Amino acid sequence: MAKDPLSAIHILTTDPGSPTDRNLAMDLVRVTEGAAMSAARFMGRDDKIAADRAAVESMRRSLAYVDMAGVVKIGEGEKDEAPMLYIGEEVGNGNPPLVDVAVDPIDGTRLVARGLPGGIATVALSERDTLLRTHCFYMEKLVVGPRAKGAIDLRLSVADNLARVAEAEERHLEDLTVVVLDRPRHEGLLAEVRAAGARVMLISDGDVAAGIMAALPERTGIDVLMGVGGATEAVLTACAVRCIDGDMQCRLWPRNDEERHLVRAEGYDETHVFSAAELAGGENIFFAATGITDGEMLGGVRFAGDKVTTHSVVMRSQSGTIRWVDAVHDLRKLLHRSQP
Ligand code: FBP
Repeated sequence: MAKDPLSAIHILTTDPGSPTDRNLAMDLVRVTEGAAMSAARFMGRDDKIAADRAAVESMRRSLAYVDMAGVVKIGEGEKDEAPMLYIGEEVGNGNPPLVDVAVDPIDGTRLVARGLPGGIATVALSERDTLLRTHCFYMEKLVVGPRAKGAIDLRLSVADNLARVAEAEERHLEDLTVVVLDRPRHEGLLAEVRAAGARVMLISDGDVAAGIMAALPERTGIDVLMGVGGATEAVLTACAVRCIDGDMQCRLWPRNDEERHLVRAEGYDETHVFSAAELAGGENIFFAATGITDGEMLGGVRFAGDKVTTHSVVMRSQSGTIRWVDAVHDLRKLLHRSQP
């Protein structure tokens, strides 16, 4: 007789895995909540550096308490570029497990500095030596949801990819929505998407949230993310895509000969098409993000006296659980608790 699917609920409630696993999933969301609340104070103040510094400092502080021996594998910058959480920085309390960490304390710094929608704080982790490391700044990206898994191929034309996604999702191509960063470099891409007949959503920044939305089409109405964006953001998106069981492909996009040489020195072939598993190869991946400014996917931070509200998503690849976490933080109690 087929196994009762509800027996999975029994597993969820009686066998939640090792205590370390449990802590990591929920600890990460506390890290992004803190970073989001710290950065949100700088919303619309036209000071990208101050917003970023607040998010980085908060993230660094709270990551120190997470039960892990983490190394920042891909992040915002190198050691001398303060206030970044730099590549190679050790984070966590030093206890096992050994993990790689990907951080973007603010994805959408411009959005937060200008008070525009879509800024998030995000962090992901996976077993040691499983996250891609590169100094190449950009990657070309293609992201879709679980129903279109296996249908995409970055080597094919835009029209072919959209036709394959439409077929896999049993939808009209004309009904698909493709999200693209609004950049001059995407003029050709946009012309191809429009010629194929799909709908377009342009965003000014923040392609991690956009990539997650494309991996969750039923929830968001976004079906595909296409275009060139940050490599750090690509790795973070791949972590989320692995949790969601969607699909993603990427190619390094060096800006000049110097970066081309760098990529080759790192041992990569710039024509190689990376799968989500090559970007984030672990079997136990955790991802968390919290809204800073109001966005399509996550609400922003709201301040109301002593109470602060945050909206987050936290995911884990091993279980496939996606939690949408609304939290009300009581600043008065938190302050009281932190005083000796
Ligand atoms: P930051 O907030 O880290 O600056 O990133 C914002 C962002 O829009 C990313 O989401 C995206 O991947 C990248 O910038 C695109 O880079 P560029 O603005 O140089 O086109």
